[in-house]
Amino acid sequence: MIFSKMQNITLAALATFMALAQAAPGVRVESRDLAFNYNSDKVRGVNLGGWLVLEPWITPSLFEQAGEGAVDEWCLSGALGADAQGILSQHWNSFITVDDFHQISAAGMNHVRIPIGYWAVVPQPGEPYVQGQLSVLDQAINWARDAGLKVIVDLHGAPGSQNGFDNSGRRGSINWDKVPEQINVTLDAIRALSERYATQSDVVTSIEALNEPMTVMGDAGVNVWTLQQYYYDSWGRLREVNQDTALTLHDGFQDIGFWNGFMGSGSGVWNVMMDTHHYEVFDNGLLSLDINGHTQTACSFGDKVAATDKWTIVGEWTGAMTDCAKYLNGRGVGARWDGSYGSGSTFHGSCDRYSQGEVTALPEDVRTNLRRFIEAQLDAYEKHTGWVYWTWTTEGAPEWDMKRQLAANVFPNPVSSRQFPGQC
Ligand SMILES: *[C@@H]1O[C@H](CO)[C@@H](O)[C@H](O)[C@H]1NC(C)=O
Repeated sequence: MIFSKMQNITLAALATFMALAQAAPGVRVESRDLAFNYNSDKVRGVNLGGWLVLEPWITPSLFEQAGEGAVDEWCLSGALGADAQGILSQHWNSFITVDDFHQISAAGMNHVRIPIGYWAVVPQPGEPYVQGQLSVLDQAINWARDAGLKVIVDLHGAPGSQNGFDNSGRRGSINWDKVPEQINVTLDAIRALSERYATQSDVVTSIEALNEPMTVMGDAGVNVWTLQQYYYDSWGRLREVNQDTALTLHDGFQDIGFWNGFMGSGSGVWNVMMDTHHYEVFDNGLLSLDINGHTQTACSFGDKVAATDKWTIVGEWTGAMTDCAKYLNGRGVGARWDGSYGSGSTFHGSCDRYSQGEVTALPEDVRTNLRRFIEAQLDAYEKHTGWVYWTWTTEGAPEWDMKRQLAANVFPNPVSSRQFPGQC
């Protein structure tokens, strides 16, 4: 039945489709070419994490100056009070600069993914967050254009939190989809970003509807069917104002194969890309793998990604093989690697060398294994649409800091070079 086939398409998306279909001759009803060819060219990129959305482990010093209660951007902004605007603005204007965009391009990359929170786009009354990130993002898009980079604008935080992680802006419970008004506010943010960057689709080739909605936690998490509705509605909001930008969808931590057929051919939508994330450090079993186990796990994951029916990027991944980076699991939370995480964590080794420090200070065998693991993942993820590393720079998390890893020849530089070819 046609109706049942279409019931996942929201009225908003349908109205957009009808409006386009009935428009005057010359108006396109299907996609114009995107400014990046996701069919034939490989996405090679890096996340600008910890810049416009703050994370304790990426910039510990920003959080430490605000006391122990500053566990996420919400609490940090509240704790800093009247100083928050000045301190965060100073961070936005210094943590990443035009020079970084040129370094990213010079290493052979073609994309950056830039997280932004809803609070920067559609501020809500009574919340402690401060604003000003959007003008920095505008400038970043100009820098990207000059450096020859494409931008994925990634909505990283939704009101109520879509995953309870500190990187959603607010650590704790997952309330996003429990309050319908919060979903509407999130759609307003997608609409505002779509409109703002509609004339910049030469650089902003994609907008990501929502980072890491947690759909695998039962009633405590996000309902995956609600998320699917939100994805259709996001597509509608984007297409109301913008035909030349892809919509990227995170897999919600479902097996990536779960999304085959969703928003596929026959669903009336186009230019949709999946995003899946791969980490091997947030699980005791994975932490116990040796370097061969880690590379094999990445190769297998790459094969699953390669089998999807849509463009699929591995939009976050890392060379890290421990969860030792200071505050990685949250301020006040220990690490699984050294057994300080609490129940279920067992000692694999000391965190000393991994917690904070320079990449060049890591022992040679650790640097060699990092490079092997990174190269395996590059090969694995280029079997399909490509990859975006997490993350460009930190205050000194050696397993995660691409800028320092490139300089130390731990990340292949250029990113297409190999010391360990053919691992996957
Ligand atoms: C959300 O937006 C829809 C469409 O504009 C509207 O019908 C609905 O009442 C809104 N829901 C809430 C809770 O505001």
